[in-house]
Amino acid sequence: MDAAPEDRRKGLHVITWGCQMNVYDSARMTDVLRPLGYRPVDTPDAADMVILNTCHIRDRAAEKVFSELGRLRVVKDARATEGHKTVLAVAGCVAQAEGREILARAPFVDIVLGPQTYHRLPEMVARASRAAGAVIDTDFPAEQKFDFLPDAQAPQTPGGVTSFLTIQEGCDKFCSFCVVPYTRGAEASRPVASVLAEARRMVDAGAREITLLGQNVNAYHGAAPDGRIWGLARLAEALSAIPGLARIRYTTSHPRDMDDALIAAHRDLPALMPFLHLPVQSGSDRILDAMNRGHTAAQYLELVHRLREARPDIALSSDFIVGHPGETDADFEATMQLIRDVGFAQAFSFTYSPRPGTPAAGAALQVPEPVKDARLQALQALLRTQQDAFNDTTVGRTLPVLFTGRGRKPGQMSGRSPYLQAVHVDGPDTLIGQITDVEIAERLTNSLSGTLVQERAFA
Ligand code: SAH
Ligand code: SF4
Ligand code: F3S
Repeated sequence: MDAAPEDRRKGLHVITWGCQMNVYDSARMTDVLRPLGYRPVDTPDAADMVILNTCHIRDRAAEKVFSELGRLRVVKDARATEGHKTVLAVAGCVAQAEGREILARAPFVDIVLGPQTYHRLPEMVARASRAAGAVIDTDFPAEQKFDFLPDAQAPQTPGGVTSFLTIQEGCDKFCSFCVVPYTRGAEASRPVASVLAEARRMVDAGAREITLLGQNVNAYHGAAPDGRIWGLARLAEALSAIPGLARIRYTTSHPRDMDDALIAAHRDLPALMPFLHLPVQSGSDRILDAMNRGHTAAQYLELVHRLREARPDIALSSDFIVGHPGETDADFEATMQLIRDVGFAQAFSFTYSPRPGTPAAGAALQVPEPVKDARLQALQALLRTQQDAFNDTTVGRTLPVLFTGRGRKPGQMSGRSPYLQAVHVDGPDTLIGQITDVEIAERLTNSLSGTLVQERAFA
């Protein structure tokens, strides 16, 4: 199936925005087009098909799409004058939310497809090549796309050492500010056997670390061969038995779905890395309630306490939104206090961005932009201090680093620590795919540098 004859080879250029699930999805779309002769190319002007895989989470998502489409139109027109057709597809969450608008405003787009219909892409390409006019498919089909997608071909990182694997998709939580339940649909979990088979293939292709993905990954409840429904803890246990798979991570988890079994797994499974991205969004109970998050600040702190009891060195990461409608100075201060109480190893933070169709967008008491910006600056300064402090605690320690590829400078190799820190050393290419002890010498702005322990022993 892999070897398309030379004359059938076509170029495919995929542009990926948004979350890690989009990275995974782009790889799957590439797989599904492979039997049609499409092979990845680096630039759109060498491509017979271009896919723009979009994100709708914040800001002027649609505007960004239209401006990129404007650029792609120029490429498409230039290729057309040379007699080449370029099939232009828009995928992802903006396609799902604003498919019709895209076709109305950008009629040169050939295909618009939502995240749940990637398995139908070959059929859409055939239809787009046959017919004049565009093809749109933003259904939430009853069948699961995973049952129809071909086997994942390879890990997604250069060097192939780390892979993403989607195990759960969609969200039923309807936070006040968020588009995801509308763009990704209802929560659904892939069956255990299909996840394990894909993980084994990824390991056979060279992956040493797999990050399990889901919009609410710890809400995973997949049908297992034993006739039961497995949660994420049980799945992680089964994955950790795969020979050659050294490291397991998962993202993004919701505090409400952090059950006892999963907390215990952080104590019991050495392959489960001591790093957890557990978004809290706000430290104010009033705002958490307005956001519909379903827990209080105290409950989050209690969760952190239990996680640290189970795995004392666990590094925590979070997402924060500042300036949600109704957020006062006191609410913001409660968020700052929660940050001080937890101590995060890293975090992502954003000003609230009203999203069309979500409850918060129409709420009274929108916070003025300059107030949001000032709060974000203060919050990010605090988080920066915490990130530096966390990284400082690893200086002087010896950490097992999984090497993923070459560093920026000649002779330099780069990898990641158990705590998801980027680490650089001077070393040979043969380190790629190896987990090797590194003595951490220095903290740089966003990474650590160190020396190989083994090499020093032989020096
Ligand atoms: N399922 C995850 C989050 C997915 S979206 C969870 O529940 O935590 C990723 C992050 O984008 C969110 O955690 C939130 O911090 C941010 N985000 C989502 N919608 C936003 C909006 N309207 N404005 C600003 N940030 C937003
Ligand atoms: Fe969005 Fe909330 Fe669902 Fe996360 S849990 S994807 S923030 S609605
Ligand atoms: Fe963006 Fe959709 Fe992911 S909105 S963050 S691409 S789920």
